[in-house]
Amino acid sequence: MPSLNDIRSTFLNFFEKNGHAVVDSSPLVPRNDPTLMFTAAGMVQFKNLFTGVETRDYTRATTAQKCVRAGGKHNDLDNVGYTARHHTFFEMLGNFSFGDYFKEDAIPFAWDLVTKELGINKDKLLVTVYHTDDEAVNIWKKHAGLSDDRIIRIATDDNFWSAGPTGPCGPCTEIFYDHGDHIWGGPPGSPEEDGDRFVEIWNLVFMQYEQFEDGSRIDLPNKSIDTGMGIERVAALLQGTNDNYATDLMRALIEASADASSTDPDGPGKTHHRVIADHLRSTSFLIADGVMPSNDGRGYVLRRIMRRAMRHAHLLGAKDPLMHRLVPSLVQQMGAAYPELQQAKTLIEDTLLSEETRFRQTLDRGLKLLDDEVSGLDEGGQLAGEAAFKLYDTYGFPLDLTQDALREKGMTVDTDGFDAAMAEQKAKARAAWSGSGEAADAAIWFDIAEEHGVTDFLGYDTETAEGQIKALVVDGASVASADAEVQIILNQTPFYAESGGQVGDSGTLTTGSGTVRINDTKKAAGVFIHTGRVTQGNVEVGQAATLKVDHDRRTAIRANHSATHLLHEALRNALGDHVSQRGSLNAEDRLRFDFSHNSALSLDEIKQVEAEVNTYIRQNSSVETRIMTPDDARALGAQALFGEKYGDEVRVVSMGSEAGSGKGTAGDTYSLELCGGTHVERTGDIGVFVTLGDSASSAGVRRIEALTGEAAFAYLRDQDHRVAELSQTLKTKPEDLQDRITALMDERKALANEVADLRRQVAMGGGAKSDAPVEIGGVPFLAMVLDGVTGKDLPPLIDAQKEQHGSLAILLIADTGGKAAVAAGVTKDLTDKITAVDLVKAAVPVLGGKGGGGRPDMAQGGGADASKADEAIAAAKAVLEG
Ligand code: ALA
Repeated sequence: MPSLNDIRSTFLNFFEKNGHAVVDSSPLVPRNDPTLMFTAAGMVQFKNLFTGVETRDYTRATTAQKCVRAGGKHNDLDNVGYTARHHTFFEMLGNFSFGDYFKEDAIPFAWDLVTKELGINKDKLLVTVYHTDDEAVNIWKKHAGLSDDRIIRIATDDNFWSAGPTGPCGPCTEIFYDHGDHIWGGPPGSPEEDGDRFVEIWNLVFMQYEQFEDGSRIDLPNKSIDTGMGIERVAALLQGTNDNYATDLMRALIEASADASSTDPDGPGKTHHRVIADHLRSTSFLIADGVMPSNDGRGYVLRRIMRRAMRHAHLLGAKDPLMHRLVPSLVQQMGAAYPELQQAKTLIEDTLLSEETRFRQTLDRGLKLLDDEVSGLDEGGQLAGEAAFKLYDTYGFPLDLTQDALREKGMTVDTDGFDAAMAEQKAKARAAWSGSGEAADAAIWFDIAEEHGVTDFLGYDTETAEGQIKALVVDGASVASADAEVQIILNQTPFYAESGGQVGDSGTLTTGSGTVRINDTKKAAGVFIHTGRVTQGNVEVGQAATLKVDHDRRTAIRANHSATHLLHEALRNALGDHVSQRGSLNAEDRLRFDFSHNSALSLDEIKQVEAEVNTYIRQNSSVETRIMTPDDARALGAQALFGEKYGDEVRVVSMGSEAGSGKGTAGDTYSLELCGGTHVERTGDIGVFVTLGDSASSAGVRRIEALTGEAAFAYLRDQDHRVAELSQTLKTKPEDLQDRITALMDERKALANEVADLRRQVAMGGGAKSDAPVEIGGVPFLAMVLDGVTGKDLPPLIDAQKEQHGSLAILLIADTGGKAAVAAGVTKDLTDKITAVDLVKAAVPVLGGKGGGGRPDMAQGGGADASKADEAIAAAKAVLEG
């Protein structure tokens, strides 16, 4: 009996043998189709190959594609757990031809695989074809030998397949398996076709047309093939059951659920186990593909599925969160075929645990309220819309969870009443918004958010994606089309909107009719505002657009943002735990980090921080992201931003492992921060980190600016070139530069002293000699007018003269370019007769100055007019004469 994993391999091997490229499953969030909520068929990733927009180096492909049908056009959520063959998550096996083979090969391939490779009894098979497709009928007859009664012509859309309202489509033929008359049901096209007896196992679509929004169709450039086989159904029939949940893989998950809840897998909790097993797959795969629980869009579909499963876990009597405990079983079953599951295991477990912990806080009270509300109702009764809304709004019960709970009792919800209560709450929120004093132009973003929902951000995983234009704003007003400056809102985008210090993305947006250069992205009221200029043609509301983020710029921004986290931690290690973030900028050309600290960093501290950051860059560990409640994140020790408001759930970004750092510390995560930004995959992607220095930002806050990657390398290169040039100029080796410069500076100082000495000597007449003093009033007095010296030179000259003559009163006047500097000196033996101050005070007024003073043995002053020097000397002599 083949396992589900065997069947997958058989299918892929068969088509590989027949010249098909085995292509990986694409993510559950389609990158290339803004009209789809989730990937719901194998052909989604090949849409552009069918229409001829894109070509690859293969024209035949085969895949095992992850699919979710729980939102949008394909939605099986309500039936899960209650039927034998509905899933929110399933795998679709497919083979594809892009203008290569068509019907005449596709049908034989399918028949041979089903009857020969898989060994399914051909007498149990019948097929449907589109009612006008005689070609297909003939191939079935010829190749499979099917008689007319086993080829059923169907005239409805059941045999005309399209992924959505637009795109490639065509008639199809489906293979059905008859489980036998012990099971109720009729063949396709009969009134009993919904029974479980006849089960469709494979759909072959003859892709022929491309359909447009107005319903018109054109021929595809080349006729193509798209097929889809539900692996769970085929596994069921090959394993002798008609119940997908009895297959090996689903059974393993059901048993894990039974084990974890200590209940019987086939007892009264049977439905609960089935719901849990199915929802475990869809939620885990969605989380692995980057969807996080939220209150809007895809995130809300995920939350609805999670909570639905969690209510069933609760009904099983599980006292503690259960879902996260089942993840290892799922990874064991499917991790080999889908390695992303293994990679995201921790993220999946954390996300499930956090959601279940939180939901359990209100689940009991919500269920009690629900019981009270329905206690007065009979079977077939309807729960008031307002009560359902209260369950939604206060207790976190998505509407379909309430409906699911009532279904067991044969009751329904008044959904009109629910919608009315929801509309009333939105009106209140709107009124509160207008009164909140936000900038007037912000109101338009609120209106857009309310009409179209918030923007789904895809940019953690991709830089390129399609989105649908929901609104265009020019000069603050909504418009239908734009051809110049414009602000664009889409349902989803890979562009990061400025927040948390990280600048907004730039890039291009292209539609069928025009191109826009996007210069910046910001967000308001949950919508992402792409601001740019139409550079060619025009763009219109409703159009699908291809968005491409500027790759090099985003790469540099990412490196700077991740380096900021490492810098934060390194600063705490170097300076202490008081260091906390006060602001940051993560731009493409540099990063800036403001943090609480009182004094400038020493060169050694900067060196230590730089070295530590670079150690963790070289460690090249992977950067992990997890989602949890803010409390759990803080309990883990994550750094939160001071004064920042956090929602119910936060992203926690961790990088670096202390174990491998060579620092000899325990094996803990090095950096752990709450952060919504985009980051490198591995720390090594940062390249290199270099600081530009530290400065004061405001009181008690320091600022470090730094560079990473290419910018850091360019900066270091520049510095290096400068050193090389300096070495050349100074004729030495770079390592001797410091000694060379110190020597030069010493030399310069010695020379300066020598020059000053010489200048003084020259001023005094070329040597130590000078005029002889004359006796005035019993005091030997010497007075001179000097050129070429400054006021500063005078005291040493006076000291020299005092020493030479032993007993002396001296007055020196320097002519400094017309102005006069005056100094006087008197040896100690004479100061009771005359002081230096007396002499200066006599001279200064004559020179046009004021004041002057000092000690009895040395005084200084100055005046504006050196031409009066002789008169000033005369005035001093007069004082001596008494
Ligand atoms: N795209 C086709 C389907 O999903 C094969 O049924």
